[in-house]
Amino acid sequence: MKAVVSIGGSVLVPSVGPERVRAYADAIESLDADGYTLGTVVGGGPTAREYIGAARELGANEIELDQLGIEVTRLNARLLIAALDERAAPTPPEDYETGREAIRRGDIPVLGGTVAGQTTDAVSAAFAEFVNADLLVYATSVDGVYDDDPSENGDATKFAEITAADLVDLIADLEMDAGSNAPVDLLAAKIVQRSGIRTIVLDGDDPERVEHAIRTGDHDGTDVVPEGVSEPPAEWTDR
Ligand code: UTP
Repeated sequence: MKAVVSIGGSVLVPSVGPERVRAYADAIESLDADGYTLGTVVGGGPTAREYIGAARELGANEIELDQLGIEVTRLNARLLIAALDERAAPTPPEDYETGREAIRRGDIPVLGGTVAGQTTDAVSAAFAEFVNADLLVYATSVDGVYDDDPSENGDATKFAEITAADLVDLIADLEMDAGSNAPVDLLAAKIVQRSGIRTIVLDGDDPERVEHAIRTGDHDGTDVVPEGVSEPPAEWTDR
């Protein structure tokens, strides 16, 4: 199975330290050793927000802030590369072609951001589409897709499954609501919809649960099932 794993910055590097990164590297190495083909994308997390906040006060414009954010995602990517050692491509690929070349060589690419004006949610969806992944996994700081922003509405309920078209509508509504947190951004949801790639959004705090979800399809998050998505991966049904 070929899977792209998007690891939120606040999940991988909640504060700069080795433990969580090591735990993610262990999960990735274990899947890799069992023959899974993997690509990973890492977000910027609180470090990116700190840099962006400081630069905004210094007068940087939005594109400059995005560029700063991208640099931090690549810094975080380098932490995971350090932990994966020789299994990882040695530098964060800066575009999808370089990432795909790494996969074809048999290395695990660890991407950060690519271009301004988006987030690593969209990078992950686009990379998954580009490499024809069977599965896209968002390991995030929210534990799934809710019908409303759970941090604002205590009655919000989590979907066990949602179509990609409904996800696009839901996120478009959430993004209209300034300040509310969407589980993935709108561009990512639209790419998932058009790509037809089976996608999981789940709590990324425990890398072993992320690994289990990739191996079995079992998880407590949300399955995003695009129209026309193929049957569940054979690895899940043969168990
Ligand atoms: P993240 O992907 O971590 O953004 O990229 P986020 O969703 O705001 O972070 P989390 O998930 O809450 O931790 C950090 C920042 O880097 C820039 C954006 O400014 C983004 O907010 N970025 C990232 C880009 O401009 N392009 C990219 O491809 C990726």
